[in-house]
Amino acid sequence: MNKYVENVRMLQFSNARKEDGKECFLAVEGLKDIPFEIKRIFYIFGGDRELVRGKHANRKSQFVLFNVSGTSKVKVIDENRNYQVYNLDAPNKGIFLPEMVWKEMYDFSEDSILMVLTNEYYDSTEYIRSFDEFVEELKKEA
Ligand code: TYD
Repeated sequence: MNKYVENVRMLQFSNARKEDGKECFLAVEGLKDIPFEIKRIFYIFGGDRELVRGKHANRKSQFVLFNVSGTSKVKVIDENRNYQVYNLDAPNKGIFLPEMVWKEMYDFSEDSILMVLTNEYYDSTEYIRSFDEFVEELKKEA
């Protein structure tokens, strides 16, 4: 484990309830719920059980992911190839991913809309798309 992967954590957003007890909306509050200033938002949709997105690490970007609709899973793999799977199976559940973690998003339900918030503008040069290179960069830092 390294200092980045140690900081991966699930987040819980607070649901508001109607008088009948049903959940009706969800508030995600910047800096209270999201541990960074949001610079970019994108959605991953139209996925299925076979699709795997991600498969990269980011040198600078941190992310919060949550399913506003449907469900998906996030696998975080460390430099020793140990991994942890996080279930995004409710709209009030999010995951925080710091920079320099290898992640894969998969097992999308048909109705999955995965929201992704990040602290950086898109910059393809901060993506590490080879797992071996990711391990090498972490080793250099250690
Ligand atoms: P990619 O990072 O591979 O997506 P994912 O993390 O979901 O697997 O990006 C897919 C393509 O979209 C790639 O050509 C870059 C482009 N892209 C942008 O232009 N802006 C963005 O904010 C993102 C996330 C991707």
